[in-house]
Amino acid sequence: MRKLLVTGSSGLIGSEVVTFFSSDGWEVNGVDNNMRKDFFGAQGDTSWNCDRLQERIKAFRHHEVDIRDRSRVLDIVTEIRPDAIVHTAAQPSHDLAALRPFDDFDVNAVGTLNLLEAARRACPEAPFVHMSTNKVYGDAPNRLNLVEKETRWEYADPEYANGIKESFSIDNSMHSLFGASKVAADVLVQEYGRYFQIPTCCLRGGCLTGPNHSGVELHGFLSYLVRCNLEGRTYKVFGYKGKQVRDNIHSFDVAQFMDQFIQAPRVAEVYNLGGGRDNSISILEAFNLIEQISGKKMSHEYIDQNRKGDHICYISDLSKMRAHYPKWDITKDLRATFVEIYKSWYQRTA
Ligand SMILES: NC(=O)c1ccc[n+]([C@@H]2O[C@H](COP(=O)([O-])OP(=O)(O)OC[C@H]3O[C@@H](n4cnc5c(N)ncnc54)[C@H](O)[C@@H]3O)[C@@H](O)[C@H]2O)c1
Repeated sequence: MRKLLVTGSSGLIGSEVVTFFSSDGWEVNGVDNNMRKDFFGAQGDTSWNCDRLQERIKAFRHHEVDIRDRSRVLDIVTEIRPDAIVHTAAQPSHDLAALRPFDDFDVNAVGTLNLLEAARRACPEAPFVHMSTNKVYGDAPNRLNLVEKETRWEYADPEYANGIKESFSIDNSMHSLFGASKVAADVLVQEYGRYFQIPTCCLRGGCLTGPNHSGVELHGFLSYLVRCNLEGRTYKVFGYKGKQVRDNIHSFDVAQFMDQFIQAPRVAEVYNLGGGRDNSISILEAFNLIEQISGKKMSHEYIDQNRKGDHICYISDLSKMRAHYPKWDITKDLRATFVEIYKSWYQRTA
């Protein structure tokens, strides 16, 4: 039986990866210490998701391990000797990173180094898939020429019609401390690929979403927005007239890309992984879509101050992913994704 090691296995992407690979016959070992609860309080608790996986999936083993614990990480990777590693554990919020910079860097950068070094020693041939972020580009995408449309900002330059490519600079911009710790991890993952010839890739995520997100105000915007609508809570919009654009990808489509990479790995690759133009939406447009689905009016408050470094318009160009892995494509459109998130919150909060 092929063995997978997934970090952050109780989170949005990690739990999808557990489900995806175990249903494909893999033995899946998950590493998570529910640090999302420590970061975001009770609403960020992911233990419900861990319990769900343990109840439903026979070939799943949960390990309560902190990826900052270097010797335990080394032990567990040596003991399991996985055939592939998917690394999704992280501190994921900009604002929180500014409040807890040491925790942010220790989890995102040092935790990633701990895993890479353990992999190099125990299983250097195993593909290593790392969840990076589009925040490695910092706020440089905000310097692109934009045009204001009725409900969204849009790229003015035809060069960006399909979105932002992997060749975009990660340098000379404001990243937030979160973006900086993720840059460190991203470069380390590339370096372990190039320097040691380990099959690694960095997936620079746009907005990753899905029914199993424990969305909170500081992280997981669609999940949180849908929850606010369902519970009649007021959603705060921070600047840019609510016309800021995000491209959203369902966690299932993330997992199926990881599967394609693991089947035919390459060395030190980088991909912009998002929903692409078809799955892009502004906050105002998202309000409209959830109102259509739930039949409930969205309550929101506008704060005329954008979050520091927040992207005005970000769309991932998916052409490199599609060229390298032609069997992969987006399977879940925005409406289907919204409906799944809505149903999940309905059940979880019932
Ligand atoms: N969700 C998004 O919109 C988005 C966008 C771009 C990139 N990403 C990246 O994708 C990855 C996964 O994101 P997600 O949305 O699934 O996050 P998530 O918060 O839902 O899941 C992360 C999991 O990691 C666990 N974790 C945190 N610190 C840990 C530690 N020290 N040891 C062990 N486990 C720990 C948390 O408890 C949580 O269950 C992250 O690297 C994130 O930066 C996410």
